[in-house]
Amino acid sequence: MKALILAGGLGTRLRPLTYAMPKPLVPLLGKPLVCHIIDPLPPEVDTVILAVSYMKDTLEQYFREHDVGREVILVNEDRPLGTGGAVRNVSRYLDDTFIAFNGDVVASADLSDMLRYHRSHGGIATMSLWEVEDPTAFGVVARDSRGRVTRFQEKPDMEEAISNSINAGVYIFERDVLDLIPDGVVSLEREVFPSMLDCGLYGYELKGYWIDCGTRENYLRAQRTLLGISGSSESPGLTNEGAEVVGANMLQRARLKGCRIGPHVYAENGVTVSAGAEVSESMLLCGASVGEGAVVRGSIVGPGVAVGKGQRVIDEILA
Ligand code: GTP
Repeated sequence: MKALILAGGLGTRLRPLTYAMPKPLVPLLGKPLVCHIIDPLPPEVDTVILAVSYMKDTLEQYFREHDVGREVILVNEDRPLGTGGAVRNVSRYLDDTFIAFNGDVVASADLSDMLRYHRSHGGIATMSLWEVEDPTAFGVVARDSRGRVTRFQEKPDMEEAISNSINAGVYIFERDVLDLIPDGVVSLEREVFPSMLDCGLYGYELKGYWIDCGTRENYLRAQRTLLGISGSSESPGLTNEGAEVVGANMLQRARLKGCRIGPHVYAENGVTVSAGAEVSESMLLCGASVGEGAVVRGSIVGPGVAVGKGQRVIDEILA
């Protein structure tokens, strides 16, 4: 079976970090975001197709240099074709039934169970759903009593929302969906799904956790959620010279000196944090440094970036 990951977006909401690296390769607790989708795929998935466009050479290089345990095929779009156009563009690689992912999603989806559900209803597609309190920023879905999707709404006002179930960005498709996608730039969400209603589109509720990592806030939320599950880890190469480490963190070969770290900090190799500095709810990428007495909170500090002595970095992305 093939899995398709949509990974061609510009990642504008994670700029300036995504000027230097494509969003699928932004690290999340020691591995690129896209590997959080690839690693838990069911064993029957032997091939991963990545629909790419922005920074495709960087992605190609990553998969040339790293074995992710499955064949990975990168399919380029000369210009971004939108989420629907991207699916159509890879049609020559797809078999009858395939799984597709919005490449931003980190979720505890039980894909084997979702596949069983898909095969049981016999429709053309299954869309994963996630229940939220406030659906106003999402694509909202209404279903009938058998789970069949009957209506879509894009970013409704609160009082007009038809349900609290949102499109969670993981799909199982039959090859026939390709006939519903016109040529050119096409949005799955706005154009293709509404046209699927007559062909049997069903909703499958995810359980556990689901996070769309498109923004800094959500990226750090995903980090917090995963740290809450995995707990702390420290590399044997970590140098701790009198630092106070609080809560769950993932600390690689960093050098921490008389500072306060945590909770929910991810620090990569070559990071240094100096005396009196405080870092919490943040990512410090390869070679970043935090000067004496600086405060870093709710932020992503990009590779090699130096946070100056006494600087306050709150809810920012530095690259
Ligand atoms: P923002 O610019 O911050 O909105 O991020 P984005 O460009 O990634 O857009 P968005 O988060 O809406 O995209 C959702 C998913 O679809 C991401 O995994 C994107 O990589 C992917 N995606 C969006 N547009 C395209 C496209 O035109 N082609 C391909 N192949 N993937 C896309």
